[in-house]
Amino acid sequence: MKKVSVSFTLNGNTVTAEVPVTWTLLKTLREYFELTGAKEGCGVGECGACTVIMDGQAINSCLCPIPEVEGRSVTTIEGLADEDGALHPLQDAFLKNNGVQCGFCTSGMIMSSKALLDQNPDPTEDDIRTTIAGNFCRCTGYVQIVESVEMAAKEGK
Ligand code: FES
Ligand code: FES
Repeated sequence: MKKVSVSFTLNGNTVTAEVPVTWTLLKTLREYFELTGAKEGCGVGECGACTVIMDGQAINSCLCPIPEVEGRSVTTIEGLADEDGALHPLQDAFLKNNGVQCGFCTSGMIMSSKALLDQNPDPTEDDIRTTIAGNFCRCTGYVQIVESVEMAAKEGK
C-alpha cells in the first residue's frame, strides 16, 4: 500500500505520520498515534463518535482523508486536560452531571461542545442541542449532556 507522510499539529505538538494514503484521520489517531479517545461508531459520518476539532471546527474524523490534514491543527479529547492533569471544564461538568454512561459518545460530545463554546461562550439550550444533533447517545437521553454543557459554559464565564 502506498504511504504518505503528513505533518500537522496534534494537541499542540508538531507531529509527522507515515501511513497508508487511504487512511482517515480517525484511523491515524487511533492506530498510528494510539490516541483512542475518538471512537469509530459508524465510520460513515452519522454518529459523531469520532469528532475532533480541526482548525477550530468540529469534524467527523472518520470522513477526513489523512492527506487533507497536512499543515492543519487537530485537537482531540486527549488534548483537553491541563499538563498537570486538571480536567477541562467540559470534562469536569460531564462527570458531575452524569453526562457519561457507557462513554462511547462522550469524546465526540465534548469535542463538539468545545467547538461551540470556543465560538459562543454563552449558548442557549437550542444552540447546544443543535450543536450535538450529529452526536448520537444511546444511553443518557441527552438531558444530562445538555446540562453538562450549560454548567461548563457557566463556569467559563
Ligand atoms: S464514526 Fe465518524 S461519524 Fe460515526
Ligand atoms: S453515554 Fe453511552 S452512548 Fe452516550
